[in-house]
Amino acid sequence: MANRTVLGIESSCDETSAAVVRLSDGALTVLSCHTADQNDLHRTYKGVVPEIASRAHVESIIGVIRCALREADTSLEQIDAIAAGNRPGLIGSLLVGTSAAKALAWARSIPFVGVDHVVAHLTAALLDGDPLDAPAIGLVASGGHTSLFRMNSPLDVELIGATVDDAAGEAFDKAAAILDLGYPGGARLDELAQSGDESLVSLPITDLKGLDFSFSGVKTALSLAAKNPPHGATTADLAASLRHAVVAQLVRKLQQAMEVAPVRSCVIGGGVAANRLLRREVEALCARYGVALRIAAPRWCTDNAAMIAAAGAFRVDQGERDGWDLVALPHSSVARGHRGRPIRSR
Ligand code: KG4
Ligand code: ZN
Repeated sequence: MANRTVLGIESSCDETSAAVVRLSDGALTVLSCHTADQNDLHRTYKGVVPEIASRAHVESIIGVIRCALREADTSLEQIDAIAAGNRPGLIGSLLVGTSAAKALAWARSIPFVGVDHVVAHLTAALLDGDPLDAPAIGLVASGGHTSLFRMNSPLDVELIGATVDDAAGEAFDKAAAILDLGYPGGARLDELAQSGDESLVSLPITDLKGLDFSFSGVKTALSLAAKNPPHGATTADLAASLRHAVVAQLVRKLQQAMEVAPVRSCVIGGGVAANRLLRREVEALCARYGVALRIAAPRWCTDNAAMIAAAGAFRVDQGERDGWDLVALPHSSVARGHRGRPIRSR
């Protein structure tokens, strides 16, 4: 298997990111990753404003790519292929990264590949580690998606469960807004929950039939509890309860999936994979089932281009490339997203 050095570009939402990743004998090494966030631009609105996001991507993308190449001590001439996340995401944002990747690949006459951002969140767990030991169960828990996959290889994945309403990250963000923790809220809620006592506030752990998730009920329950906190519970206690209820549901479905069909590995990615309680709980679960845990390192959980470059490298390694007519799409080709949207294929 040849060495592949791939430049990846991520611009699906509000992070502009570029990375250089090398794939060698099935193992991925991150040579660089440079990310510009836009939190300061969106904070006032307590959420991402698509038009502001796409304009900010245009302004920063070239600088971000230059930084990634410099950090990797390489140049465009030494890159074998260019990958961009072309789905799912905000169309205006996706177009910036996808167009930049196409233009650079065309100028250098090297392969261009589009990558599904949700699948790339799974490959984030394989960065700087051993090749995947399949079959595996995969969980992506992010701000837009909560999806369970059966994985035969890093890119050969089958959707077996997904949220029917809010995503897990969305539940964290909405809860953080209810508790007035600022923007972006998921990580702040996690931090505050560290000092809280979840036993003081009881929130429902939703358990749908099968492997689907639902997080809108727990958010409503939190909002009611916050208006009238029981037993003098503090904001930290409310945060701890919310975190416990969301994590318990994620872990329960992972466990059910492992029982339906045994796996060798459990792969976890997406912003919520940074959650400290989730990391502890899945470690214990995998130890009980004798399954290798591959959870993304905290820096690769939230959106980054290293995971895009990695997924792109796997595609290029299989001899795949996309045409210049590849379009940006709002939906994933393998996952249901916000409010249980059905699977759409390209
Ligand atoms: O994967 P990501 O960067 O973007 C999407 O593709 O959606 O995920 C962002 C999500 C946000 O909802 C954020 O609140 C959540 O990940 N998040 C966390 C933590 N860090 C980020 N949620 C819980 N605990 C954390 N430590
Ligand atoms: Zn993401």
